[in-house]
Order: sequence, then structure tokens, then C-alpha cells
Amino acid sequence: MDENYYQYIRGWFGKWASFYNFIALPLTGVRNKVTDMIDSRDKLKILDVCTGTGAQAFAFAKRGYEVMGIDLSEEMLRVAKKKKYEDVRFVMADATKMPFENDYFDFACISFGLHDMPHEVRHHVLDEMRRVSEKIIVVDYHIPKNRLHRWLHVSFASLYESKYYQDFAKRDLEELLREHGFRAVKEAYGLVDFVRILLCERKSFEGK
Ligand SMILES: C[S@@+](CC[C@H](N)C(=O)[O-])C[C@H]1O[C@@H](n2cnc3c(N)ncnc32)[C@H](O)[C@@H]1O
Repeated sequence: MDENYYQYIRGWFGKWASFYNFIALPLTGVRNKVTDMIDSRDKLKILDVCTGTGAQAFAFAKRGYEVMGIDLSEEMLRVAKKKKYEDVRFVMADATKMPFENDYFDFACISFGLHDMPHEVRHHVLDEMRRVSEKIIVVDYHIPKNRLHRWLHVSFASLYESKYYQDFAKRDLEELLREHGFRAVKEAYGLVDFVRILLCERKSFEGK
């Protein structure tokens, strides 16, 4: 594994943490769309992987769910923890080695996390999400299929994104999810179509 990745990510988000909530303001509507994907009034247990400053975690909690947010970056979590909110807990943890039992959660969500890690790490994170929850929600950039749109989109996002984004943009997210035994059952788009939201269920590896 690229060991510099941990150092890079902590440094990168250490720099952005104080501005992150402001930068991510345009995503406010997306947070609600993500919570709308879950159609339940039960007090579900939700894990927010790569929670950052916790915006998605708080959106889940406002719907009455019990939420746990994990992240590598102390600075991002410090911002998250400033906002006291019942039913949300934040823990510093590596998403490749989650400190939870199998199937502990009803849903595991990762929003804007997969594009901030090397491809090898994405595999470990998805394995862990599969282990701790039968259902997952993946929220990330929608990479358009049309070449011109893709070029415009990727060129724009590369101006401010981490060094792992361009690799993410080359990959097929659905194929990656299938490789990890997930089947997309609901799909939505946000910020016009800049963001894609996929709700996936775990298949057994026999494909049944
Ligand atoms: C772009 S931020 C997304 C934050 C938040 N989920 C959101 O939607 O605004 C990506 C986050 O992923 C975290 N991250 C990257 N790799 C991680 C890992 N292996 N384990 C836990 N967090 C990780 C970073 O520290 C950062 O806070």
C-alpha cells in the first residue's frame, strides 16, 4: 500500500479543515437527497465512512438515525465535533480497518471519500463496508460518459481535488462495486448531475 497516502491525506485535509464546511456548502441539497435514499422510520444504525466534518452524518441524524462517523483526519473531526448533536458519534479510524463487528450497521455510507484514496485503498474500504453492513450508499462525482463533458468535468475538478481524483475519474464505479459484491438498487443525481448517489445491496459471492 502507498504509505505516503496516510501522510498526504492527513496533510491535505489538515489544510482544508477550517474552510471545508464553507467549500462544501453547495452540497447541502445533496445531503438531503442521500438521506432520502433510505426509506425507513426505524432508528437505524448508520456508519458514515470518511465523514470529514460530518455534514452527511448530521443529515442522517436529523432524520432520527443513530450515526457513527469515522475519519483519518484529526483536524476534520475536530470541526465535526464542535457541532454537538445527539445521536452522532465521531471516531478517528482508518476505513481500511474498521473497529466494528460484522453487520453491525444497517447502512454504511461513503460520501466524497472514494476519490480521495489510491485505488488499492478503495478496494480495502469497500471490503470493510461490505463486512460491516449489508447495504451501502456511495456518493461521489458523476463522471460523464460523453468525452467532451468528461474532459470539462475532470479538468474543472482537478483544479481543486486531491491527487487521487484523476485516477478515480478513470475508473468505472459500478464495476468496482460489482467486484465487491454490491448491486446498485437505487440511483439519484445531485447538483444537476455533478454528483451521483448509489444505494447498493450486498450479494452473496455465489451471485444468489
Ligand atoms: C472530501 S472529504 C469528504 C468528507 C465528507 N464525507 C463529505 O461528504 O463532505 C474525504 C475524507 O476522507 C477521509 N479519508 C480518506 N481516506 C480515509 C481512510 N482510509 N479512512 C478514513 N477516512 C479517510 C479524509 O480524511 C477526508 O476527511
